[in-house]
Amino acid sequence: MTILITGAAGFIGANFVLDWLACNDEPVINLDKLTYAGNLETLASLQGDARHIFVQGDIGDSALVSRLLAEHRPRAVLNFAAESHVDRSILSPEDFIQTNIVGTFRLLEAVRAYWNELEAEARTAFRFLHVSTDEVYGSLGAADPAFREDHRYEPNSPYSASKAASDHLVRACHHTYGLPVLTTNCSNNYGPYHFPEKLIPLMIVNALAGKPLPVYGDGMQVRDWLYVKDHCSAIRRVLESGRPGEVYNVGGWNEKPNIEIVNTVCALLDELRPKADGTSYNTQITTVKDRPGHDRRYAIDASKIERELAWRPLETFASGIRKTVQWYLGNPEWVAHVQSGAYRDWVQTQYASA
Ligand SMILES: NC(=O)c1ccc[n+]([C@@H]2O[C@H](COP(=O)([O-])OP(=O)(O)OC[C@H]3O[C@@H](n4cnc5c(N)ncnc54)[C@H](O)[C@@H]3O)[C@@H](O)[C@H]2O)c1
Repeated sequence: MTILITGAAGFIGANFVLDWLACNDEPVINLDKLTYAGNLETLASLQGDARHIFVQGDIGDSALVSRLLAEHRPRAVLNFAAESHVDRSILSPEDFIQTNIVGTFRLLEAVRAYWNELEAEARTAFRFLHVSTDEVYGSLGAADPAFREDHRYEPNSPYSASKAASDHLVRACHHTYGLPVLTTNCSNNYGPYHFPEKLIPLMIVNALAGKPLPVYGDGMQVRDWLYVKDHCSAIRRVLESGRPGEVYNVGGWNEKPNIEIVNTVCALLDELRPKADGTSYNTQITTVKDRPGHDRRYAIDASKIERELAWRPLETFASGIRKTVQWYLGNPEWVAHVQSGAYRDWVQTQYASA
């Protein structure tokens, strides 16, 4: 038995692989293109571990995906691979269309052809799990109820539009061809190994470097935050017990405005790594022009996954953010390699034969 995971050199995928192999021995084939967001240094602890097979490649490379499926015969494919940064999607949407839409389509086609040839029992047991985002549902008003699985799709950025399209392709593949798919739509993740272009790690590394802490607009954009390991446990649960064709919203019931997140990070750093001059890190907060089309509020109603699959997050926001800040304080080398770009050289030297 084995599973194929795409995009598992990225933030969530890598956390998923580390947790997966920490709790069971089923091998993982990790197919990742290694874009700027792919960082094999995150998986350094798995070097020499036969349960992790890394393959550098594109989910849109049909020949490669078909070969991997034929060779390793996975019982499930988990699709984490994506272009994931909203700001980048505004500046340069093309990559998002290629990977998130065309890539997902080609992946589905290769998986469908493989699945069609399986024996009856393996066909029934097979799963294609697609990892998606709450951003496909659009933006909520302050008093609107949180997103449920039947909320209308109203994506507002090139990123969320491309993820919405991929969700539709996954759905159609089930409806039309019967492929046993599962989709998870999760809120904002945070935790270890998060690329420091995203809000929480950016604030931690900038604060420590004495740099400004840039906050968009009034900082009152509300997001629902989930510790990444809780997202990973939700995906494991959906893979194990989710009903094919179903969508599960995953969230932490932790709605917070961005400015509160930044102030919390500053307060934790004040406690754990106080500045020599005695001032708070929050004096480094600066306001920058809001990004175009910035969604105001996302909130996930996670009752379905709680009710049907008995999943609950383990971390509160207070415990998760403390662990996250502590992780960044304890791993300055990982951060420095990302910032200098040395993580790419690391991949060359450590995985030259992969
Ligand atoms: N980060 C979040 O808060 C969040 C929340 C909900 C859902 N998601 C979804 O979870 C998934 C993982 O997000 P993340 O934050 O880990 O992203 P990430 O940007 O950190 O990682 C993405 C990974 O995919 C790889 N990749 C990109 N294009 C590829 C391609 N064409 N073929 C193969 N690999 C490719 C990259 O090299 C990278 O390793 C994405 O689908 C994202 O939409 C993320």
